[in-house]
Amino acid sequence: MHVTVQEDRTIARVTAASLRDRKKDGATSTHDKIAVLTAYDYPSAQILDEAGVDIILVGDSCGMVVMGNPDTLSVTMDDMVRHTRMVSRAVQRALVIADMPFLSYQISPEEALRNAGRLVVEGGAQGVKLEGSVEKFGNAIAAIMRAGIPVMGHIGLTPQSVNQIGGYKVQGRSPECRIRLKDEARGLDQFGCFALVLECIPADLAAEITSLVSIPTIGIGAGAACDGQVLVLHDILGWGTTKFSKTFGDVRGLMAQACRAYVEEVRTGAFPDPERAFK
Ligand code: KIV
Repeated sequence: MHVTVQEDRTIARVTAASLRDRKKDGATSTHDKIAVLTAYDYPSAQILDEAGVDIILVGDSCGMVVMGNPDTLSVTMDDMVRHTRMVSRAVQRALVIADMPFLSYQISPEEALRNAGRLVVEGGAQGVKLEGSVEKFGNAIAAIMRAGIPVMGHIGLTPQSVNQIGGYKVQGRSPECRIRLKDEARGLDQFGCFALVLECIPADLAAEITSLVSIPTIGIGAGAACDGQVLVLHDILGWGTTKFSKTFGDVRGLMAQACRAYVEEVRTGAFPDPERAFK
């Protein structure tokens, strides 16, 4: 009898549950931290997925880095659905999480669920992220989770509250704010969020929160002790960087060079060369 052993080519998908397990197993504190990047379109998402990024976040930062706005506040649900769909079409392994934009979850739990549902059904996301505490948005988070949609929390510097905060400032420096952030982290963990973004807080506070909660913490400007790190794609590729980010490759410079070379060749007639002409 001949037995054909078929190679299993299916790619194991990252899930909200597998990320929680990675923390539970202790892997995220040593050799297997969680790598998260933002993406907003098909070709970028394909590159990130092939590079092994665990979570691709369709961030409302697209309002700033793609649309050129000064903040994230004018990003709409339609924008997020469109960008999430572009990303999810490209991804085979990573977990695709979509940001809930400003006013998509703050008005009522019903609207929050309807909007989270659009990101899953129309956008193809496997979960959503929203900014704020259980105290403020527990009803919205509960409604979304009741429908089976995983929720990622986001505390510390929450860009949708930039007007209230008075700028993009480090949070959690005062003793009161440290206590509040620890309470918020514990609350979101106990409420059932699968992961928690900690943005722009002191490294020692992020370390404390990381050991306090059972879910993975994903830091951005929050030091090295978090279970994972997230950065905005355009920041690592040379489109401007913040103190906590790093340019991992000058893609902006390469694009500028390629575009200048194209302009030059068109001007001088060097492009198109005869081999490219149809006969
Ligand atoms: O919108 C975004 O890109 C984010 C990350 C920076 C965490 O929320």
